[in-house]
Amino acid sequence: MDQRSFSPSTARNRGPILNVLQRVLPAEAKVLEVASGTGEHAAFFARAMPGWSWRPSDPDADARASIAAWIETEGAANVLAPAAIDVCAEEWGVEQDAPFDALVCINMIHISPWQATLGLMAGAARLLRVGGVLFTYGAYKRGGAHTAPSNETFDAWLKQRDARFGVRDVEEVERAARARGLLLQEVVEMPANNLSLVFLRN
Ligand SMILES: C[S@@+](CC[C@H](N)C(=O)[O-])C[C@H]1O[C@@H](n2cnc3c(N)ncnc32)[C@H](O)[C@@H]1O
Repeated sequence: MDQRSFSPSTARNRGPILNVLQRVLPAEAKVLEVASGTGEHAAFFARAMPGWSWRPSDPDADARASIAAWIETEGAANVLAPAAIDVCAEEWGVEQDAPFDALVCINMIHISPWQATLGLMAGAARLLRVGGVLFTYGAYKRGGAHTAPSNETFDAWLKQRDARFGVRDVEEVERAARARGLLLQEVVEMPANNLSLVFLRN
C-alpha cells in the first residue's frame, strides 16, 4: 500500500522555499526538519541539494509513515529515516547527531500551541552549531496586524479548530527566539502572504 500523503500547498510553496534555503544554507549541510508532515518537502529539497543530509521528523506516526514512503519512492540517499520529534519534549532523540547546521520548520508555529514555538526555540538553541540557521515558514502577523484578509480568515479558522492555535506575530516569535540566543537575520516575503524567517544561533 502506498502510504504517501500529498499536500496541495507543498506543490505551490516548495520551489519558493527551496530558493530561500539555497541562499541561506551552505551547499553541504546537516539539516534537521521538524514537523515534516507528508515528507514531500524533505524529498524535494534533498533531491535538489545532494550536499544536504536531511533528517525529517514528525511526532505523528501516520506522518512518519508517509515520510518513509516518500523517501522510498524518491530513492534519495541523503534523506535519513524520520525521527519521532515532539518539539515540546526535553529530549528530541537526535542529540547524538548534533550539532546541526540548520533546523527547518515549515507550517507548524501557527498550527500548534505557543508552547511548541518555545520548544522549537529551546531545541534550536540546544542542537544548532554556533552560526547555524533556524528557518521557519508560514503565515505571520507583523506589528500585531494581519498582512492580508486571507490570513485573518485563516487565523479565525485555526482558533476555531483549537483555541491555542493562531497566526503569530513576527515580533513575538522573534522575542522567543532571542531569549534562546537566536537572532532574526531576515524576513522574506513569500507567495500567498506567507513569510520565511531566518534566525542565526549566536
Ligand atoms: C500543517 S502540518 C505542516 C507539515 C509540513 N511541514 C508542511 O508544510 O506541509 C503541521 C505539522 O506540525 C506537526 N506538529 C504539531 N505539533 C508538533 C509538535 N509539538 N512537535 C513537532 N511537530 C508538531 C504535525 O504533526 C504536522 O505534521
